[in-house]
Amino acid sequence: HNPETERLLQANELTAKLYHYLLKNTEYGKAAIEYLRGRGMNDKAIDHFQIGYAPAGWNTLVQFLEKRSFSLPEMEKGGLISSRHEGGGYVDRFRDRIIFPIKSSSGKVIAFAGRIMGDGQPKYLNSPETRLFNKSRVLYNMYNAKSSIRKKGQTILFEGYGDVISAWEHDILNGVAGMGTALTENQARMLKSLSDEVIICYDGDKAGQAAALKNLPILESAGLVVKIALLTDGIDPDEFIRKHGGDRFTHQIIDGAVSPIKFKLINLKKNHILLEEGGRIAYSREAIKLIAPLSSPTEREVYLRELSSEVDVDFETLKQECNLERQQI
Ligand code: CTP
Ligand code: MN
Ligand code: MN
Ligand code: MN
Ligand code: MN
Repeated sequence: HNPETERLLQANELTAKLYHYLLKNTEYGKAAIEYLRGRGMNDKAIDHFQIGYAPAGWNTLVQFLEKRSFSLPEMEKGGLISSRHEGGGYVDRFRDRIIFPIKSSSGKVIAFAGRIMGDGQPKYLNSPETRLFNKSRVLYNMYNAKSSIRKKGQTILFEGYGDVISAWEHDILNGVAGMGTALTENQARMLKSLSDEVIICYDGDKAGQAAALKNLPILESAGLVVKIALLTDGIDPDEFIRKHGGDRFTHQIIDGAVSPIKFKLINLKKNHILLEEGGRIAYSREAIKLIAPLSSPTEREVYLRELSSEVDVDFETLKQECNLERQQI
């Protein structure tokens, strides 16, 4: 490592410690720790994930780093502080936010995500891209989840930090999350190097389900076997686990995760009104387009029979349509 990289790694480590200390041991962190407890996060998780609190003042971290002789321009490039718009000087980047340190797959703190307490924008403020942090190459909790992923032969891919943490609190240790919902080829390759199977477990709202659909081909292209967990009613895994517990999450949501084709058919169905004949015809047509490319005749038959009862059209008719479609592929 070059010296500037070393210094930034050291500054990140100290910053994570400072924020964690402020959260746990000072008056500044009181409201933050109450906020976290109110959300159901336990002390073990707060320690394990080194959750912290960045105080509301403008220069707590600036002074902390200055006192330790870090170069402020260097720290600004490293994303820890920001330069003042006017008048020169520096201010803390994260103010009055819950801090989630983000670690590299070798366990070093390389960035931070700061969540606002309560409502407000942006909900999460993340470190910018720096010499340490390329968000398209990082997965939250990868360092800790690695061994469990290898052992189970499976990764659970969540949307958010809170989902990973809730799962961990309930002994589900193979969870990771991307930085937001956009997944990259690089992250997919990282997952493939640890195991062959990924369960996408995104939020049960429109955004989460759309992101699952979008990220599916990226994971499949990396050679992964993908299943999709079906959360509903806008609920996210964190909320599900806190409401129903880890066992029900494992047995209902993870074990109940569906194949990509099933997931696509379920989504398709949501877009059509099956009470109307136009809706049934349009749905059938698009469903057949999804079913026709399947190479296994058994699989095709299973889905066509299901479709047949959903749209009240004879199985043989749908099979004919499907065979016509297959001739065009
Ligand atoms: N995210 C982000 N910036 C935002 C909103 C979201 O980077 N302004 C990323 C975060 O990684 C977040 C993930 O997208 O964890 C999922 O977003 P969301 O479901 O909205 O947040 P939750 O993780 O569920 O957070 P919370 O439960 O605290 O609302
Ligand atoms: Mn979400
Ligand atoms: Mn969420
Ligand atoms: Mn959440
Ligand atoms: Mn519990």
